[in-house]
Amino acid sequence: MNLANRLKAIKPSPTLALNAKAKALVAQGVDVVSLAAGEPDFDTPEFIKQAAVDALRQGFTKYTPTSGIQELREAICAKLERDNHLTFAPDQVLVTVGAKQALYNAFQALLNEGDEVIIVAPYWVSYPDMVQLAGGKPVFVETREEDGFAPDPDAIRKALSPRTKALVLNSPSNPSGAVFSRAALEGIAQAVRGHECLILSDDIYEKLLYQGQFLNIGNVAPDLLSRLVVINGMSKSFSMTGWRMGYVAGPKWLISGMQMIQDQSTSNAASFAQKAALAALKGPQDIFVPMVEEYRGRRDLVVDTLNAIEGVRCRRPEGAFYVLPNVSGLFGRSYKGTPVTGSVQFSEILLNDFRVAAVPGAPFGAEGHIRMSFATSREQLNKGLERFRELATALR
Ligand SMILES: Cc1ncc(COP(=O)(O)O)c(C=O)c1O
Repeated sequence: MNLANRLKAIKPSPTLALNAKAKALVAQGVDVVSLAAGEPDFDTPEFIKQAAVDALRQGFTKYTPTSGIQELREAICAKLERDNHLTFAPDQVLVTVGAKQALYNAFQALLNEGDEVIIVAPYWVSYPDMVQLAGGKPVFVETREEDGFAPDPDAIRKALSPRTKALVLNSPSNPSGAVFSRAALEGIAQAVRGHECLILSDDIYEKLLYQGQFLNIGNVAPDLLSRLVVINGMSKSFSMTGWRMGYVAGPKWLISGMQMIQDQSTSNAASFAQKAALAALKGPQDIFVPMVEEYRGRRDLVVDTLNAIEGVRCRRPEGAFYVLPNVSGLFGRSYKGTPVTGSVQFSEILLNDFRVAAVPGAPFGAEGHIRMSFATSREQLNKGLERFRELATALR
């Protein structure tokens, strides 16, 4: 018996695989520093947990509408208005099992065989595979570190074709932490104006911003609102990765199609988790302040330490909780007699011999780089960075 052909095009998630390997080593008693995880190390705020407990106690444990409970969809619309100045009606909103399901359903609902989706590199590893699972073709737009990883509008124009159905934007970005400026967003908007594609804006790291104000492309290009799809969720902002709560707002025709996919797959996201998300969105919004301050301190610690290592160059990210140091200056040097030539090999040595889990840049479309998360304690960061430095100096 064989697996379906559609699986041939996709790869296992490298971040999940690396995390699993690091966890297996820890289980064997190996002292591994994990800088691979894409999740906050803070606990879910107590008032959010309490809302779920209350919901469970009150017996709110049954199916809900697939699209999510009405009051949550209303709260999502209120949040989008309050925080993002974007207007959506509750019937333009779908509550999903994490932002991941929102993206997956969008591609499933939108793409025919061979339809193209433009993805700005470096990109979150799951976008290309999700596109391919839906029969689509990812088309990558390369960016440059020195441009802050913002896409050149001309490169987007060149990538557009009659088959382009969507452009995916992710700012703040996983893996680079880059935040697109107003000018960059205006440039992107200008590039897609003459073309009918949707814009999928993955705003999941919206609250983790170290400078300026969060901007969605809809804020700088109101004329594109009718084809804007906003994807967001509770995972990163509210430290709720395990709750699997995401949402999407967009054109009604697309949301209806996505709901049909969800009707025939998961149905609704967990009922009591929806009540927790409701409490989170309606609760105090200053909970982000101390969290962002702590992340900022860690970011500076990591960036400054990395930049002091010969052969390593690290851009200071404006958002999210990742750094993407350029380690290509170390390539060509040898470790134990073997030349190190790429990020995958570098990450393998780092984990196997120096007990630090960090994800290679290659699967993010960022060869020459390593992605490291600073969503862990300063103690762990210092230990991981010291081991990283040991590897860099061991390369000759
Ligand atoms: C850019 C980006 N989008 C979406 C997600 C999915 O988040 P979740 O499904 O936990 O809401 C992640 C998680 O790592 C991410 O990094």
